[in-house]
Amino acid sequence: MTTGPTAHQDAVTAEYADLNPLQVRITTHRLYSEHPDNPDATVRERLQVPSDADLLDIGCGTGQFLRDLDHDGHTGQLTGIDTSTEAVRQTATGRVTALNASADNLPFAPGTFDIVTARHMLYHVTDPLQALREAARVLRSGGTFAATVNHASTAPRTHDLVRTVIQDADAAPSTDSPVNAVNSDTLPPLLRQVFGNVTTVRYDNALVFSRPDPLAEFAVALLPFNGIAATDTAYDRLAEKIRARALRWFSDHPGQVWRDPKGWALCSATLTA
Ligand SMILES: C[S@@+](CC[C@H](N)C(=O)[O-])C[C@H]1O[C@@H](n2cnc3c(N)ncnc32)[C@H](O)[C@@H]1O
Repeated sequence: MTTGPTAHQDAVTAEYADLNPLQVRITTHRLYSEHPDNPDATVRERLQVPSDADLLDIGCGTGQFLRDLDHDGHTGQLTGIDTSTEAVRQTATGRVTALNASADNLPFAPGTFDIVTARHMLYHVTDPLQALREAARVLRSGGTFAATVNHASTAPRTHDLVRTVIQDADAAPSTDSPVNAVNSDTLPPLLRQVFGNVTTVRYDNALVFSRPDPLAEFAVALLPFNGIAATDTAYDRLAEKIRARALRWFSDHPGQVWRDPKGWALCSATLTA
């Protein structure tokens, strides 16, 4: 396994060459959270996005956030960027523009946008501080930056299940971890450093599974976060072992649910200068 900034970015790019695991994670959070969990809707609600705002979404993923704004009649520019070619392909629909670019080197002139969002993506970026400086650079004065990031410990029980399966199978991680140390505790000081201000709202929750299949599919979608890429020869074998573990847990614990604490924060800042 190689390590370092390039290996990290390569692992991130490999992780999102196919967006299905991301879609499985998004759907799981929507359907199996103890309390309603819809980060896209929460970001829109908290930011009260004016319909004529020029908005950049960094790490746009499936593009659903921008598509929903477009669908709801947004008149300002809607732009997404992502390092995944597949994300760009899925996002570029209707009035939404999408480009293949990285958060740490945005292909836009200073002061291009009223709002810049980076939803559940800063924990993938090789140099998060540089990404925040870039976000500030492309914002207009008075503009808003908003990022969502997970809590440091999110779904620890399911991550443990995945790690145990990997260890028991003696499978060596084949890729650098695509996750860095940016979380809801470490992001606010970084934002204060770049913008001089930050507002943080935390959303604490839990995943709750009452049957094995959705737990197993969510756990399989976490394999890449534990260094096993979908292209790894061990991937299918490990996925089967995860499914077997999930089945066994439910048959060993009749009538019980698998509850796993999780949460994320919305951190926002205003460009004042
Ligand atoms: C966890 S997904 C989140 C997608 C979307 N923002 C959402 O919340 O549904 C992370 C996304 O960030 C993208 N990404 C990772 N590193 C990036 C970088 N340096 N610059 C731009 N996008 C990046 C990935 O390709 C992926 O689409």
